[in-house]
Amino acid sequence: MGDETETELPADEMVPGIGWPADDDIFTNNFRYGDLADWNRAALKIHDEHDGFYRIERKGFPSILAVLDHAALLDVERQPDLFTNGPTPVLTTQEGIDTPPPVELKTLIHMDGDEHTAYRKLGLPQFKPASLSRLDERLAELADRALATMRDAGSEIDFSTEVALPYPLHVILKILGLPEEDYPRMMTLTQQLFGGEDPDMQREELSPEAIAAVLMDFFTYFNGITVDRRTNPGDDLASLIANGMIGADPIGDLETMGYYVIIATAGHDTTSSAMAGGFRALVEHPDQLRALQERPELLNNAIEEMLRWTAPVRHFMRTATADTVLNGHELKAGDLLYLSYKGANLDPKVFDDPLRFDIERPNADRQISFGFGKHFCMGAQLARMELRSIFGRIIPEIESVELAGTPTTMLTTFVGGHKTLPIRYTLRPA
Ligand code: HEM
Repeated sequence: MGDETETELPADEMVPGIGWPADDDIFTNNFRYGDLADWNRAALKIHDEHDGFYRIERKGFPSILAVLDHAALLDVERQPDLFTNGPTPVLTTQEGIDTPPPVELKTLIHMDGDEHTAYRKLGLPQFKPASLSRLDERLAELADRALATMRDAGSEIDFSTEVALPYPLHVILKILGLPEEDYPRMMTLTQQLFGGEDPDMQREELSPEAIAAVLMDFFTYFNGITVDRRTNPGDDLASLIANGMIGADPIGDLETMGYYVIIATAGHDTTSSAMAGGFRALVEHPDQLRALQERPELLNNAIEEMLRWTAPVRHFMRTATADTVLNGHELKAGDLLYLSYKGANLDPKVFDDPLRFDIERPNADRQISFGFGKHFCMGAQLARMELRSIFGRIIPEIESVELAGTPTTMLTTFVGGHKTLPIRYTLRPA
């Protein structure tokens, strides 16, 4: 999200042989998410040695309590008045949280209390089972398309960019009710403007004026959609947003824009990261892939395990509104908490042998990748449907698959997964 990110770490700040800076922690340094196996080992150490809590004391950052303990994370989310999303829902940049983000937007994740409840209610109908079931046909078409892309590519493909990235973006277009021609524009929005701190994803070549111009393009575009849906309301989410009322008033311009942006961004990278990361886990655990092919009824549980394994949303922040104590950790009003969903999915008190990928794990559905409580992910069921649809279509067709190079992952502390996932494969004859 920030454009202030370090693109490389100065050599004198690195730990020789490891590559991480001396005052480093795995939460605020986006480079640490580039090596997920290393990240996982460090998180397990925090569980083992610090009981699932870590006090972040990094230069340029205020003191932050990272919560990896599964039960404590739920406790925090259960008390939204004591631990609010505002004013700092996300730790955005490497420079410390005081650096302003490039775009000020007000979305559901920035809201608390009654305001949040009212805005959340607006979009919810589109995520209820009756509305979601209307997407079945489109999901099946997109899954067919994903398989066709793999067939057309022959025997090698970047699964992340060619299969996992396009699929959820087409779903977003569908639920917002936008035409397929708008795909490139939406890709710019989700990948470049809100692409996280990864240097590869940033528009480094763009001046602030140029970024402002791209943003203006979006404002104009979404304003056009709003005007259209006010005149010709349909049954899509854009119509709900455009005609949304809070009490007796239409929703404000900033909030309208924020709604479009949260749906587009929250629904894209998250799901594609779960898809690519979940698929990689199967590629690297051929016994699990075989088990899933032989017993397709394991798919739902396999998806929960993939969600546990990938945890595409690495964190959200909360701010304590009063002095309190959390599992013996004293907090003052104004103190920040870093809810580590990825860390909580590795809590050995909940998940036996957490670094084992096991599609038959009996409690995989206790994964906490969608959060919990008042801000629980609005798209959780949709994301599960998407994963079921694509894996249900592709997995039975795979005869063999292996990595065809070293996969790379996003260098971001927020939403992240694979940048690339090169695979070599053979498919069963069509
Ligand atoms: C694997 C895919 C996904 C993951 C891992 C994920 C994860 C999350 C998480 C962790 C939160 C915050 C929960 C909390 O604070 O307790 C969230 C919120 C949200 N998600 Fe998702 N998400 C995914 C897919 C989607 C999709 C497909 C959509 C919509 C198209 C979506 C829309 C939202 C929205 C609107 C919120 C804000 C809810 C609020 O603040 O009330 N997400 N998501």
